Amino acid sequence: MILNHICFKQGKLLALALTVLFTVKGYGQQSRTTVDFDAGWRFHLGDVDNGQEASIADKSWRLLNLPHDWSIEGEFSKDNPATPEGGALPGGIGWYRKTFTVPATSKGKQVYIDFDGVYQKSDVWINGHHLGFRPNGYISFRYELTPYLKYGAANVIAVKVDNASQPNSRWYSGSGIYRNVWLVTTNKVAIDHWGTFITTPKVSKEQASVELQVNIRNSGKPQMVDMTTTIYDAQGKTITSTGNKVNLADSITTMHQQFKMAAPNLWSDKRPYLYKAVTKVYNGKVLTDSYTTNFGVRYFDFNADNGFSLNGVPTKILGVCDHHDLGSLGSAVSVRATERQLEILKAMGCNAIRTSHNPPSPELLDLCDKMGFIVMDEAFDVWERTKEKYDYAIFFKEWHKRDLEDQILRDRNHPSVIIWSMGNEIPEQGRPRAGELATEMAAIIHKLDTSRPLSTANNNPDTTNKIIKSGAVDLVGYNYHFRDYPNFHKRYPGKIFIGSETTSALETRGYYDMPPKLDSIRRWPVKGNYNDHVNMNADNTVSAYDNVSAPWASTHEESWKPIKKYPFLSGMFIWTGFDYLGEPTPYTWPSRSSYFGIIDLAGFPKDVYYMYQSEWTDKTVLHILPHWNWEAGKTIQVWAYYNHADEVELFLNGKSLGKKAKQGDDLHISWGVPFEPGTLKAVSYKDGKVVKTTEVHTAGPAAKIELVADRKNIKADGKDMSFVTVRILDKDGNIVPNADNKVNFKLKGNAFIAGVDNGDPVSHDPFKADYRKAFHGLALAILQSNAKAGAITFTATADGLAPATVTLQAK
Ligand code: GAL
Repeated sequence: MILNHICFKQGKLLALALTVLFTVKGYGQQSRTTVDFDAGWRFHLGDVDNGQEASIADKSWRLLNLPHDWSIEGEFSKDNPATPEGGALPGGIGWYRKTFTVPATSKGKQVYIDFDGVYQKSDVWINGHHLGFRPNGYISFRYELTPYLKYGAANVIAVKVDNASQPNSRWYSGSGIYRNVWLVTTNKVAIDHWGTFITTPKVSKEQASVELQVNIRNSGKPQMVDMTTTIYDAQGKTITSTGNKVNLADSITTMHQQFKMAAPNLWSDKRPYLYKAVTKVYNGKVLTDSYTTNFGVRYFDFNADNGFSLNGVPTKILGVCDHHDLGSLGSAVSVRATERQLEILKAMGCNAIRTSHNPPSPELLDLCDKMGFIVMDEAFDVWERTKEKYDYAIFFKEWHKRDLEDQILRDRNHPSVIIWSMGNEIPEQGRPRAGELATEMAAIIHKLDTSRPLSTANNNPDTTNKIIKSGAVDLVGYNYHFRDYPNFHKRYPGKIFIGSETTSALETRGYYDMPPKLDSIRRWPVKGNYNDHVNMNADNTVSAYDNVSAPWASTHEESWKPIKKYPFLSGMFIWTGFDYLGEPTPYTWPSRSSYFGIIDLAGFPKDVYYMYQSEWTDKTVLHILPHWNWEAGKTIQVWAYYNHADEVELFLNGKSLGKKAKQGDDLHISWGVPFEPGTLKAVSYKDGKVVKTTEVHTAGPAAKIELVADRKNIKADGKDMSFVTVRILDKDGNIVPNADNKVNFKLKGNAFIAGVDNGDPVSHDPFKADYRKAFHGLALAILQSNAKAGAITFTATADGLAPATVTLQAK
């Protein structure tokens, strides 16, 4: 069971496997164990007097498993101090406690607790002893428990989480121990926390040189040990190995090992090949530690004339920015929910993620390594000057060095991480102080890693920007200003460019409106005067046509066109891949989540997804919008995104409306079509031959429910999930585009409903529920394993509709 739980954590699965191996071989000593520490915590919402004291009674507290986000369980209200910008959900103070037994055999070992992230201002105690305070809600941290533990007896760990002072974030943060927790037990001689650093300074097709730096911690007497490292390929075959004698005279000893690898398999976004370096420390014949570092062999270059290349191959960075929430799951980390997001992005052709505006979960980076995403790993949204009353600026002075170092130490072995970003739209970017801070932070990073370029995301990227002027950044990051891209080198001769943040266009999935000259209209509300503005919708929807953007920003097409055209523009990170909780700009309450996503909060693609797919993938695409349920006689703008074809012909009820083709740098074509019910059909042609056909039918009244599970078999590990899409169909199986039926769910068997959603940014229904209204014909239910194997039967019913059932297996 432990194996199931730990298999994701970098470097730990093999460690355990080796432990078993060496025990079997009779060396008799365990090297290290890393145990998933998520199960069986007690939680109390609200402050508790002396909550840290081991003796207080906590039996009446709620029993739960981590990761846990208490905000997502709360009620939306415009009066919550987070404000709609922070997601309009409650914050507050929460306490977590866990009672656990440390075996007597752990005596003489080192025991640590690792938190991947706690939002925010956490205090941790073991048996009443205060271990530390950590204000940054996105940073991973470790405490040593050894001196305070009772062996063979009960111990109490207590965590106070304080997310009461709000607003402290410009987006939804979540509250609680929302990432994983691990209990790590090592011998007195062990590789240190984040104790390896692997680089591949010289890489070619023929050969790669690999350098490994290892920090060994000795909490015992000075001694001599042997350290060997073996490199394994993705199939587990040994590639090369080397060993050293090490004199552990100090508490930390740093060792270096070099390797040569012939004909390496290079890591790339298209072929994310991973190796493992397994480092073992022996005292005589006794294995004292075994530690795995996953890594990739790759080289890259940012060039002022030719942009980005990976392993010598010119590669555009086709990225998105995303916040950390997982929609209706809140910020509680889930490997499967994160993987699903990346799968949806991959299918769009996206190859890069910017972790705006904070260090991500370690699992996100592991998945990016495995699935082939380039990562811009970002540290901060503010430095010394605030954006929100209670944000990180309060802690920056005291904590930024430590936080930045910990981020780099944790993340620097990931081949996916290619850019470090020191900050987003830093308010002091126009002041000399910004130059000083950028220089200082660049030095902090360079002490730990010189193998990646440094960047910042600048909303004012002109030459008055003191961060860029300081010379501390290698890669000049533009947020927006797409009209300035072509002239980048007039401003910054010889410099390299990244579109660190682009677009901020707005769409509501499934909602369309029909202004007469749709193609030419750029709409934006006048702040504070929403209702007077001709282009705002009273029901807080934004047309799903790509023609609405923030004034500082662009439509999707406007930003992509120059990036596509100029090779020196390395690429872009679109704001955003997914809708996220909070920042419902241009609206405020009753809206509570963003409109910027290419994909909605439930994970359903909006139409513009297919524009990118037609541009960024090899898939043959022909996507038409909108749906075909309108008032007779109304002229409807029909758009098509397509590729692999010279032209597209549109038919209404069998009658041709003519062929159209993209001209110049067009990214779509459109027709004005007087509506009549029936079938709208598009056919794309290449050299006169049909490439692809797509149809949209006028739907009749809602008649039945269809359930589509993304996976019918899930792991019975308490964590795995199946995402079930609920579709409202007419009697002929057409999706009913405006259906908003309330759907009730029943679940039998070994799972529970972890969240429900429909992508509606205005809904105030709870995310933890056994019902959801459809929004433009769709809803979502997320089923999570309850750790027992067996069948799961999930049924959806709604008044007047034929129900549907789907059966899954937890194995
Ligand atoms: C940017 C900012 C993002 C988000 C976006 C919305 O200026 O960096 O965090 O607020 O605007 O358009």
